[in-house]
Amino acid sequence: MSAQPVIRTVTDGPDQQTPKYWYGNDPFLTHFFNAVSSTFPEGERFFIRAVRHFAQDGNDPVIRAFVGQEGQHSKAHDVHIDLMLAQGFSGIARFNRVQKRAMGWMNRRVPRLSLALTVAIEHVTAVFAHEFLHHPDYWLEPMHPDMQRLWRWHALEEAEHKAVAFDVYEARGLPLWLRRVAMLDATMGFLGEIFVRHSYLLIKDGHFRPATLWRGLRSLVGRDGILRRLAPHIGPFYHRDFHPNQVDDRSLLAQRCREWGLAAP
Ligand SMILES: [Fe+2]
Ligand SMILES: [Fe+2]
Repeated sequence: MSAQPVIRTVTDGPDQQTPKYWYGNDPFLTHFFNAVSSTFPEGERFFIRAVRHFAQDGNDPVIRAFVGQEGQHSKAHDVHIDLMLAQGFSGIARFNRVQKRAMGWMNRRVPRLSLALTVAIEHVTAVFAHEFLHHPDYWLEPMHPDMQRLWRWHALEEAEHKAVAFDVYEARGLPLWLRRVAMLDATMGFLGEIFVRHSYLLIKDGHFRPATLWRGLRSLVGRDGILRRLAPHIGPFYHRDFHPNQVDDRSLLAQRCREWGLAAP
């Protein structure tokens, strides 16, 4: 059973004073996380619509808390997007207009697939969250404090509500094969989308150069690289008996709430 998620807001997140290269003063990795962050607001609005469509009771406190948390995340990452736009990366707004239309269409026309994709992407975000909670020195330490506050808050809440969409999917008796197809689609689609956005940001910023790309690629897929750390957590999702709560983050979550000054569940 999922714990009741708590709705919090992030204070002292990024603003105009936050350094442009906020991830370890590294343009490649900063733009990687910028690319990831830029997909969140439309993605999270998509999750909310997908879960609401199938929830037995929209007033269930767990569903309302999920909607509340994802709604707050959208707003906070919209602020981050506004900073990217102010830095001249106007292409992000164009990507997001396309993403908004595509996701709205999916919610209306293929609601079952939309929920399956939500379940799959929620697992990917839960994997990020698990890593952030367990290894803040690796993930959060290189970030500027403004961004640390944003990402640790978001990670913590993703860990907290990681089973909500999955439980709605199971309660509706939707099929295992669709969940598996959705994960394949979600991982390929997410990697492709991030690759395009990341490349755009690097090109626009004048950092699409062989030395930067080579060094950056090693930090993504080299030994102890970001994607190599995430990948092993994806496999269990394909198991017939998978449930997000099989990985129990609750005690660490409570500990991080105390350390980071966030309300405990
Ligand atoms: Fe979120
Ligand atoms: Fe989420």
